[in-house]
Amino acid sequence: MNTLPSQINQRFAQDVEEGLSLQLKKLPSKYFYDKKGDELFVKIMHCEEYYPTDCELEILKEQSTQIIQACELPKDRINVIELGAGDGLKTRELLKALVQQRIETRYMPVDISANAVEGLVSKLKREIPQVETSGQVGDYFEILNEVNARSERAKLILFLGSTIGNMMDEVAHGFVRAIAENMKENDRLLIGFDLKKEPDIVRAAYNDKEGYTRAFNMNLLERINHELGGNFDLNKFKHYPVYNPQTGTAKSYLISLCDQEVYIEALQKTFSFEAWESIHTEISQKYSKSGIEAIAKASGLQIEQTFLDQRAYFADVLFKKLST
Ligand code: AVI
Repeated sequence: MNTLPSQINQRFAQDVEEGLSLQLKKLPSKYFYDKKGDELFVKIMHCEEYYPTDCELEILKEQSTQIIQACELPKDRINVIELGAGDGLKTRELLKALVQQRIETRYMPVDISANAVEGLVSKLKREIPQVETSGQVGDYFEILNEVNARSERAKLILFLGSTIGNMMDEVAHGFVRAIAENMKENDRLLIGFDLKKEPDIVRAAYNDKEGYTRAFNMNLLERINHELGGNFDLNKFKHYPVYNPQTGTAKSYLISLCDQEVYIEALQKTFSFEAWESIHTEISQKYSKSGIEAIAKASGLQIEQTFLDQRAYFADVLFKKLST
C-alpha cells in the first residue's frame, strides 16, 4: 500500500475521480508529464519509430529562412512567443536564422512548468546570447495579452511539436481561436501538425519496440499510486494503441486484463474494472489539409504558407489574421 504524500494535487485527484467514474473510463494525458513522464517522453522522441520530432527539426533546420521571409516582418524587430516550449531544440534553429538575418529578437518561452522554462532559458542565454530570452510561467492567454499591452513589436507565436493533436477537435478550435483573438495584423502563428500518412507508420510511432510509449502510459497509473495512494497493479493492465485512418485519430488505452478493484486512498473510493474494460488515455490527431483549413476558418485566420518535411509527414503551418 502506498502512503499518501503530505500535499495532494487536488486538481489531479478530481480529474482522476471524474475520469474513472465515467461509463467509458478516461484519464487526461496532461498527467503523463511528471519527472518520470518527461524523461520517458525524451526517450520516445529519440526512438526509431517516433518520427514527428525529426520531421519538424528537419523543417526548421532547412526552412527557417523561408519561414522568416514568409512572416513579412514590418520592422527588423520581433517577439517570438513559444507556447509550451519543451526543450527548445527545434526553436533554436529558427532563432539562429533570425540572428543571421540581423533581426532583433526577444524570445519568450511560455510553460506551465517553471522547471522546464528555467532550464531552457539558461541554456539559450549561453548558446544564442544575441537573442534576449526571458521565460514566462503561467497561463498562455494571459501572457499573450500582457505582451500585447507591453510591446508594439510584431509577434511570431509558436505552437510546435503537434501538441495541438493532443486536443479534441472542439478544444483545438477554441484554443487557436483564443490565440487569434490575441493577434494583431502583423502577427503570425506557426503551428506544428502531424499529417495523415501510411497507417502502419503512425501505429508504430505509438507502440515502439523499446516499450517507452507503453511505460509513458503506465506512468499515469504509477502517478495515481504514488500521489493519490492508489493500488493499481500495473501487471494487470495492458497498453493498447490504435489508429483510425478515416478520422486520423491515434488513441491510446490501458486495458484491464481481469475483473479487479482498485482503491484510491486520497479519494477514499474503490473503482471496479471488468476484464477487458479500457481507460482512454490520449488522442494524437493526424491532420489532412482540409482539417487544417477548418481550424483556420473556425479561428478567423488564413493560411499564409505551409512548410513540409521531405517525406510530407509533418507540416509547420504559418497563419495570419484574416484581413477584414
Ligand atoms: C506531445 N505529443 C505531441 C505527443 C504525441 O505524439 O501525441 C505525446 C506522445 N504520446 C505518445 N507518444 C508521444
